[in-house]
Amino acid sequence: MKGVKTVWFCNNCGAESSKWVGRCPSCGEWNTMTEEKVKEKKGRSTTGLTGRADISTPVPVSAIETADEPRIKMPSEELNRVLGGGLVPGSIILIGGEPGIGKSTLVLQNILSIKSRTILYVSGEESARQIKMRADRIGRPSDNVFIVCETSLQNIEEHIEKIQPGLLIVDSIQTIASDDLESVAGSVSQVRECASRLLKYAKESSIPVILIGHITKDGNLAGPKVLEHIVDAVLHFEGDGQHIYRLLRAIKNRFGSTSELGIYEMCQRGLREVRNPSEMLLTHTDEELSGVAVGVTMEGIRSFLIEVQALVSTAAYGTPQRSVNGFDSKRMNMLLAVLEKRAGFKLAAKDVFLNIAGGLKVNDPAIDLAVISAILSSNIDMPIPHSTCITGEVGLSGEIRPVGRIEQRIREAEKLGMDTILIPRGNLKGVDTSSYNIRIIEIAKVEEALRTLFA
Ligand code: TYD
Ligand code: MG
Repeated sequence: MKGVKTVWFCNNCGAESSKWVGRCPSCGEWNTMTEEKVKEKKGRSTTGLTGRADISTPVPVSAIETADEPRIKMPSEELNRVLGGGLVPGSIILIGGEPGIGKSTLVLQNILSIKSRTILYVSGEESARQIKMRADRIGRPSDNVFIVCETSLQNIEEHIEKIQPGLLIVDSIQTIASDDLESVAGSVSQVRECASRLLKYAKESSIPVILIGHITKDGNLAGPKVLEHIVDAVLHFEGDGQHIYRLLRAIKNRFGSTSELGIYEMCQRGLREVRNPSEMLLTHTDEELSGVAVGVTMEGIRSFLIEVQALVSTAAYGTPQRSVNGFDSKRMNMLLAVLEKRAGFKLAAKDVFLNIAGGLKVNDPAIDLAVISAILSSNIDMPIPHSTCITGEVGLSGEIRPVGRIEQRIREAEKLGMDTILIPRGNLKGVDTSSYNIRIIEIAKVEEALRTLFA
């Protein structure tokens, strides 16, 4: 076809090449170049921030006027927290997650409760009736939310022109395509083109835009990294399909911190915010079970208590099994080695299964000591008292290392009615402990912790 050329795009970084290459010259990944047909551009590129090709004048920072526009509060407090206090006018944010995790539900549920502005929800995935059925289930459909099923970028722009929304949602960025390009929706060039056109719209009109994006099997946002560079904030909605909890994390945020975490629960009628995660993550039984230890972990700046469950049994077949859910398996092996070497427990011929309750994944090393305690509790079949919780990182020589934000962790344990907490020795240096209403036991070595727990 005339005016159409073939180019190769890297799936990983979005780099462009005029011929096929085995290895991307830009990011060095192998076998990532895919062929796409694009229309040849005439004249110079106009995809700048303002879309105009004419030259702009540099101005001193101090001379730039900032309209102190308030953030647009979303109905969900958890979402506001992750966004850093609400949506910034003119910003473009991307919500990514695996299919079926609840991205559309999250966004729909929020916009249904906004009454103050007109909202345009562009869906390339579901029909208007499907969306209505879902909306009926999760909220009260309102008159200010407009739904359009459209996949052509040009048509979407016409709808925007007509409706003049105060908030635009595109579900999902991988389903829409510009007529200017030959390639199919979801390809690198389409995703890039559509996102930058919407970015231009957001910046010029000061209307916030929310894009929904898919995630590939290996956990990357489908489409190139380029998409992450274009948008102002990238939020990941994640969780385990088998569990009801969903976590919303900021991966990138130009207007706030990335250490915030939002927790939701998927219910019959949509998503429910979880304000106090600890209460849900602990099992409330009167019976004391062996193999269970309660640890205090931090996600971003929130602390909560989690249950670590372990099962240790004699290996039935030759090689002992090690199975871990929600915790790093290499780290567990290291902790087992520490137990063996420093505390003298023979676990080499035992199967060890470890699970973090609630389907959460914990990276916080402060739960090391809880992991060790749970494993040992199962091994010797002695329960740890319900009201005891444990925090501390374990070093290779069996020493208990200090953890961050210890005061916050103790407060959380106290709030949840724990009466004893094991913490690393020296972690509370200079802190006035008289205000705590919980027994604090300072521990320096693994053996000491075990003696305290199973004496
Ligand atoms: P959805 O928002 O369609 O996911 P995504 O847009 O990320 O692909 O969520 C779909 C899942 O959520 C579906 O498997 C069913 C579940 N769900 C509920 O459990 N309760 C509800 O009220 C709704 C609306 C969905
Ligand atoms: Mg969806």
